[in-house]
Amino acid sequence: MRTELCERLGIEHPIIGFTPSEHVAAAISKAGGLGVLGCVRFNDAAELDAVLDWMDANTGGKPYGVDIVMPAKIPTEGTQLDLDKLIPEEHKAFVERTLRELGVPELPGDTEERAGVLGWLHSVARSHVEVALKHPIKLIANALGSPPIDVIEQAHAHGVPVAALAGKAEHARRHVDNGVDFVVAQGYEAGGHTGEIASMVLLPEIADAVDVPVLAAGGIGSGRQMAAALALGASGVWMGSLWLATEEYLRTMPSSEAMQSALVAATSSDTVRTRIYTGKPARLLKTRWTEAWEAPGAPKPLPMPLQNLLVSHAHNRLHEANDPGLVSMPAGQIIGRVDRIRPVAEIMAELLAGYEEALERLEKTR
Ligand SMILES: Cc1cc2nc3c(=O)[nH]c(=O)nc-3n(C[C@H](O)[C@H](O)[C@H](O)COP(=O)(O)O)c2cc1C
Repeated sequence: MRTELCERLGIEHPIIGFTPSEHVAAAISKAGGLGVLGCVRFNDAAELDAVLDWMDANTGGKPYGVDIVMPAKIPTEGTQLDLDKLIPEEHKAFVERTLRELGVPELPGDTEERAGVLGWLHSVARSHVEVALKHPIKLIANALGSPPIDVIEQAHAHGVPVAALAGKAEHARRHVDNGVDFVVAQGYEAGGHTGEIASMVLLPEIADAVDVPVLAAGGIGSGRQMAAALALGASGVWMGSLWLATEEYLRTMPSSEAMQSALVAATSSDTVRTRIYTGKPARLLKTRWTEAWEAPGAPKPLPMPLQNLLVSHAHNRLHEANDPGLVSMPAGQIIGRVDRIRPVAEIMAELLAGYEEALERLEKTR
């Protein structure tokens, strides 16, 4: 499987894998795709720097990229303390009551709590870019809009192309006007932040609207779906959810057994698009936690970045509870295909074999 993207990014197959795990990202790159490491979890740029050192030592010289989150449209600054003050008491009380009613235990006294995600503050995301550009990255991608034009120029000055996610053709056009090199067309089915248009409709719209390579994202988990994406006008695929169900993911996030059991058990109906994770619509695994926010009397989620700060302690408690029914995790509808936890290389091999089979089947229709 080869397209123009292979030349542009120096990869064997146009399969780009977004993941918050450096172990998964390295394995995707080593298998011939492009592993793209999500930076939003790094509140501290020095921690990201150390992880990218690890990537440099463990990708066997294969290309990799990073993903930052610089939302185009939210108030993006403030210290955690300032922001905490903006969270209404009613919301805090709801979260506490819900955790109690769901039977989620308190954290053991010696637990080191992860702070709420601050990676989408522009100051933090800019520190990610500074650090990442000191490493041999081959792509910077941005969720939630074009990155600011000076960040695009900074990447280009280092010879690094920029990609941005888009859920509408008009967003894709704006990205290209701003200087973005690749558009990731992300359909409604996708895990994480997502718009309202399904991949089948969105992808040809975006491919027709822009003259840069388009990557198909949202609902891709088989070679057949990759062939469909290329038929619809994509130059490659961008996948996220499938990589959560890998052995490598557990190496970065060792206590993710409950999340992985929930993924294996889930059908394609077991996700929900909701604002409770970050304040913007994102597709998550449907669990008793997401259902509690839909029950009568639940408050409306707060805007980004307050909602994630509101639920970050709850996320730590839900994580420690280690119960598949209480997981809070972005995941797309494609998880209906996940039936076991596998190494990344096995998934890549299956995708490529499935792509060949799909082409052979199509060839017979001529
Ligand atoms: C757990 C998880 C976290 C995600 N976080 C981000 C993120 O920080 N930045 C981003 O650009 N996309 C993020 N996404 C979206 C992915 O980049 C990708 O576009 C999406 O997963 C593709 O759809 P799929 O889930 O159907 O494969 C996330 C997806 C998942 C499943």
